[in-house]
Amino acid sequence: MCGIFAYLNYLTPKSRLEVLDLLVTGLKRLEYRGYDSTGVAIDSPDSKNIVMVKRTGKVKVLEDAIKEHFSGGEYSEPVMTHIGIAHTRWATHGVPCERNSHPHRSDEGNGFVVVHNGIITNYNDVKTFLAKRGYEFESDTDTEVFAKLVHHLWKTHPTYSFRELVEQAILQVEGAFAIAVKSKHFPGECVASRRSSPLLVAIKTKSRLATDHIPILYGKDTDSGKPQVLPRSDSTSEFMPEEKEVEYFFASDASAVIEHTNRVIYLEDDDVAAVRDGTLSIHRLKKSLDDPHAREITTLKMEIQQIMKGNYDYFMQKEIFEQPDSVVNTMRGRVRFDGNAIVLGGIKDYIPEIKRCRRLMLIGCGTSYHSAVATRQLLEELTELPVIVELASDFLDRNTPIFRDDVCFFISQSGETADTLMALRYCKQRGALIVGITNTVGSSICRESHCGVHINAGPEIGVASTKAYTSQFISLVMFALVMSEDRLSLQQRRLEILQALSNLADQIRKVLKLDSKVQELAKDLYQHKSLLIMGRGYNFATCLEGALKVKELTYMHSEGIMAGELKHGPLALVDDSMPVLMIVLRDPVYVKCMNALQQVTSRKGCPVIICEEGDEETKAFSSRHLEIPRTVDCLQGILTVIPMQLLSYHIAVLRGCDVDCPRNLAKSVTVE
Ligand code: G6P
Repeated sequence: MCGIFAYLNYLTPKSRLEVLDLLVTGLKRLEYRGYDSTGVAIDSPDSKNIVMVKRTGKVKVLEDAIKEHFSGGEYSEPVMTHIGIAHTRWATHGVPCERNSHPHRSDEGNGFVVVHNGIITNYNDVKTFLAKRGYEFESDTDTEVFAKLVHHLWKTHPTYSFRELVEQAILQVEGAFAIAVKSKHFPGECVASRRSSPLLVAIKTKSRLATDHIPILYGKDTDSGKPQVLPRSDSTSEFMPEEKEVEYFFASDASAVIEHTNRVIYLEDDDVAAVRDGTLSIHRLKKSLDDPHAREITTLKMEIQQIMKGNYDYFMQKEIFEQPDSVVNTMRGRVRFDGNAIVLGGIKDYIPEIKRCRRLMLIGCGTSYHSAVATRQLLEELTELPVIVELASDFLDRNTPIFRDDVCFFISQSGETADTLMALRYCKQRGALIVGITNTVGSSICRESHCGVHINAGPEIGVASTKAYTSQFISLVMFALVMSEDRLSLQQRRLEILQALSNLADQIRKVLKLDSKVQELAKDLYQHKSLLIMGRGYNFATCLEGALKVKELTYMHSEGIMAGELKHGPLALVDDSMPVLMIVLRDPVYVKCMNALQQVTSRKGCPVIICEEGDEETKAFSSRHLEIPRTVDCLQGILTVIPMQLLSYHIAVLRGCDVDCPRNLAKSVTVE
């Protein structure tokens, strides 16, 4: 999805070239979100105009264009205060091209320039309104109307402050957005806001900040007849350091700012953050009863190394190989293997309420949805509650009935997926208990849930989710174990699972050693058009997730097939040339899986088999197999998904695909 990065230096001299460098690096950190074009805006050398450069394609193309465009010496002069804004665009309205790339401008004089993430749903109405007033549009985007609307308000309300202009414009638009605006009429100022799309402000100062919060200002400045921004000496001075020098960053996510500072404020919906004279204020037009008085300044725990590739060729590859550690991080401080106890601090106070619920609903999209499919059976077994698994988009389409005694889990790596977030709000309004399972501290889902579990997998940069899946899986298993703590009849089962969890990291390491064997298999498969992946029971989720990985990364057709359904249709696809992969493990559905295997081989199919170490009987059915260590049935899915992650990765490399940023896809889908 689109990425926003803006940088403001106040009394901290930087040349425009240095600013451009910072902007380009910021965009590189957001590349993983998925995008198709880029752009930046900075001040002209005389600071009287705004200069923009936009390009279709990768940030590297923009970087080269910037080198060409800004070669003159005047751009290396330091400026005390300056604002630069930058953007990666993932096309929603209009094809990827320079004309549609952000920043978008208000007029030919570049009075206001805007970068935006999300969709302004009523942009056609606003466009008609502005067109009637003589505005001409140069792009196909919804964003452009915002820039022109701010310009129109500036013309009609000359006394408004920059922040008020943006605020008034926001009141007129509907939909989801995060925006950052720069203006030549308000030099040294930047205004940003969000509604449903993520945006944070990061603060960099030389000395430690004297406070950990920033007060929120409410109401209309213009009620008093004149625009006003809080002076430094007023309440905002509480959070400012002694010295005046300060740098601010506005970004779609923390990975873009972590190399500069770890102090961030996550903006809430309809917050308007404005910087003027080096002072940051956060403003809201209306105050509701449950609004807090301040926004917290959070200290990020993330390290820069976590978002670097290290010795790996791709982030996805690195993330696959991190899984022995990430699964341990998910359990760290929660599972006590010596005392067989599990504490999930984020939901422990809600467990009695959850135990009394009517049903559990697990809701997510893509890979996160698959983690719900993977753990549903165990949740049913250990909670003895009905467990309903839903795709967020379909759940919303159906206006699904939700009751006060429902407990709804929202599973999302990013914590920002629009469909999941909308489903969360839908359930919250109907009085259900909301539990968030996310990997991103401070994300919207995390903040809007009543309680939740941080999966602690560490930043995941590759668009195709890998380590987040295994950590979501473990988080849900831990929840099932907590729910069954006092069930005597389930103690033996719990012990078996806990024992298996304690061996998991070593077993994952063992599975990762299959890498070169998987690479050989990929050589057999990468030129085919299709790959069918079959399994059932605890491994059906692996089939769905494996097929999603293959589709996302390799652009091959792939289908995850419930082996029990084989004879009801998919068997017609099987012949001696159709690539098939089957998961056949020694669990309660082994015999049924063997039936499916026989059905495939008797149609001349020659499947690749994922089976248990040393299972000669199963291996005898094919010359191509991957052996994985034995674990308890309900955790097999963690070990079987890893060969699928590796396989899709190797096929993608062999097919020359962009592993970390597959075409047309975004890491965090913040539009519905
Ligand atoms: C996008 C990504 C998928 C991801 C899905 C849900 O489609 O490309 O990899 O599984 O969103 O994302 P979430 O952040 O909610 O887990």
